[in-house]
Amino acid sequence: MRQIAIVTGASSGVGKEFVTQLAAGAGGPLDEIWAIARTKDALDKLATSAKGVHVRPLSLDLTNAADLDKLAQELDSCEGHIQWLISCAGMGKFGSFESIGRDASATMIRLNCLALVEVCSLVLPHMQPGSRIINIASIAGIVPQPYLTVYSATKAFVYEFSRMLDEELRAGGIRVTAVCPKFMRTGFLDNPGDDATASSMCRIGFQDVATVVRRATVASLLGHPVCIPSLDMRAAAIAAKLLPRRALFAIEDLLFRR
Ligand SMILES: NC(=O)c1ccc[n+]([C@@H]2O[C@H](COP(=O)([O-])OP(=O)(O)OC[C@H]3O[C@@H](n4cnc5c(N)ncnc54)[C@H](OP(=O)(O)O)[C@@H]3O)[C@@H](O)[C@H]2O)c1
Repeated sequence: MRQIAIVTGASSGVGKEFVTQLAAGAGGPLDEIWAIARTKDALDKLATSAKGVHVRPLSLDLTNAADLDKLAQELDSCEGHIQWLISCAGMGKFGSFESIGRDASATMIRLNCLALVEVCSLVLPHMQPGSRIINIASIAGIVPQPYLTVYSATKAFVYEFSRMLDEELRAGGIRVTAVCPKFMRTGFLDNPGDDATASSMCRIGFQDVATVVRRATVASLLGHPVCIPSLDMRAAAIAAKLLPRRALFAIEDLLFRR
């Protein structure tokens, strides 16, 4: 049986790095990697540059129902099983809820939550015991972030969805890992909405994308339901669980000088 990995958000940042590391063998033997995003040129370039495993570019907009149908058809006609589903497609906007506006808020929910769930529903019947799902959430899904409100809420959804799905699927040998990184220098910050809010929040510092992907892959192989790939954010996650929300938000106000 052919072993296939599917990576969404593969045209840049975290998804692109997952394709590169999986192609080089980081997740075990594979016959093919399906690289999904909207930007065809970037996917084609990745397919030619990736070393090790054949990378198949699939230019799809995951918020578009017709494109999700195309993915369903690809899955139904493929011979093999899906060993890895890695959902990286996502976007975020910084700033007050009012300044972000209806369209951007809806797009974040459609892409970060709805599309992730729909792709998972389509792919799951093509997985088998031993298959792995990695969902890229964010530390903002565990430590709630006003002024990144809708994004933070979408990532809380991804985090909780992943944890509960892992519980449902583990008896059948499929494990789900929610990955909760802090900031990384990727396309995510190219058009962040309110620049001043974004740069004040980025005071918590950046993580290296390759390190995040390496740690996420190892956590998934070990069957860990959660991967917070930096020590400082693990401490922040514990604080967020222990502190009342009012105290947590007061600390964030001080830290981000609001
Ligand atoms: N970078 C950070 O600081 C950070 C921190 C924590 C969590 N995250 C999360 O990490 C994940 C990866 O983001 P990144 O940092 O790698 O940012 P990125 O470089 O902007 O990558 C986002 C990816 O999503 C794809 N995408 C966007 N809209 C899409 C759509 N409608 N259909 C299909 N694909 C779509 C983009 O490709 P196209 O534009 O070609 O479609 C791109 O490949 C996201 O879920 C993000 O929320 C990022």
